[in-house]
Amino acid sequence: MSTTTLPPTMKTLLQPSRQKTELISTTAPLPVPTHPDDVLVRVHATAPCAGELLWARDFPDTIPADKEPVPCQDMAGTVVSASSSSSSSSSRFAPGDRVYCRIDASRPGAACDYALPRASSLARIPQGLGWVEAAATPLSALTAWQALFVQGTLDVAAVKAGDEVAAVAAREKNGRVRVLVTGAAGGVGSWVVQLAALAGAGAVVAVCGRGKDEGVWALGATEVVDYTQTSIEEWVAADPGAREVDLVVDMVGGRTLAGCWAAVREGGAMVTINTPPQYGKPEGMTKKLSKELFFIVEPLGSNLAEIGELIEAGRVRPTVDSVWEFADFKKAFERLESGHAKGKIVIKVSDEA
Ligand SMILES: NC(=O)c1ccc[n+]([C@@H]2O[C@H](COP(=O)([O-])OP(=O)(O)OC[C@H]3O[C@@H](n4cnc5c(N)ncnc54)[C@H](OP(=O)(O)O)[C@@H]3O)[C@@H](O)[C@H]2O)c1
Repeated sequence: MSTTTLPPTMKTLLQPSRQKTELISTTAPLPVPTHPDDVLVRVHATAPCAGELLWARDFPDTIPADKEPVPCQDMAGTVVSASSSSSSSSSRFAPGDRVYCRIDASRPGAACDYALPRASSLARIPQGLGWVEAAATPLSALTAWQALFVQGTLDVAAVKAGDEVAAVAAREKNGRVRVLVTGAAGGVGSWVVQLAALAGAGAVVAVCGRGKDEGVWALGATEVVDYTQTSIEEWVAADPGAREVDLVVDMVGGRTLAGCWAAVREGGAMVTINTPPQYGKPEGMTKKLSKELFFIVEPLGSNLAEIGELIEAGRVRPTVDSVWEFADFKKAFERLESGHAKGKIVIKVSDEA
């Protein structure tokens, strides 16, 4: 472990009670690496995720009782120290490297000056991406990537460089898949739209609220449903033969999820990240799908590196809703919990961001 002069304490946000969503700003000792794959990072910018302040209360099996309650699991920063042992995966990173990641929800987040992500979750920030945009990327992009290419039915070879023959074949295959995505203008949704379009999906149907259509067209949507004007059920019922989809990615749940059941074709696939598909299945519906699943994102640095190649090539881009000073964290969370962000809400942590 290389050393550097570090302050004894740092500023941090903390959630004093897991039963309440209230946050405080305070100071605390710096986190101390205890595992060979721990990497100490000076944080420049971070981003919260919708609903995250209720995870510890609602999913106690996933969030350990002794977790230091620092919120915001998305992070962009500079490596301070990493293990120099060649057997450790953190040795891939050196002090001064610009890195970003999604910190696993079971570990303290990044709303603080120094965070301690695991090397397996880290990737180098692509050239040309600033701290704010970098912090806006990991969770949303990883979730979209895994929803489409790992859990869903699009072939990832379509977006990979290096094997043009495989890419063309994959794009042809993906061209037969109509994708519908809800929450399409939000953090995850804006990545699903871009990645599905880039992978050559036969259609990208973006479901979003009023005033969001321009943004989702620009990201690559081929059809837009304004759910405040037309429900998904009404939209598909107008022309089921042409409008039914092969793959749904839903991040809204509730009534919206019921609409997704109407839109997916018999034998199609449904991937959800808010509530399991069965929770929204209308009573009496007999439709059978080839795949229906809820999943939790895996914070894989390897996937983030693949996404980083696409960013560096200028083929995809994070969408930032708004940027907040650290002292304005309450306003940032209020904006997030309004539920209608256009992309990610980012909090600056250092003066460099
Ligand atoms: N399972 C996982 O691993 C995982 C990973 C990441 C996120 N999530 C969850 O996924 C959800 C979305 O996350 P996010 O970061 O994308 O949130 P977000 O940025 O707040 O976006 C949510 C989007 O939902 C849309 N929306 C709100 N009410 C709606 C309604 N009634 N019908 C249709 N759309 C509606 C909003 O768009 P409009 O303004 O256009 O209405 C907003 O853009 C959250 O619940 C989050 O906790 C889960």
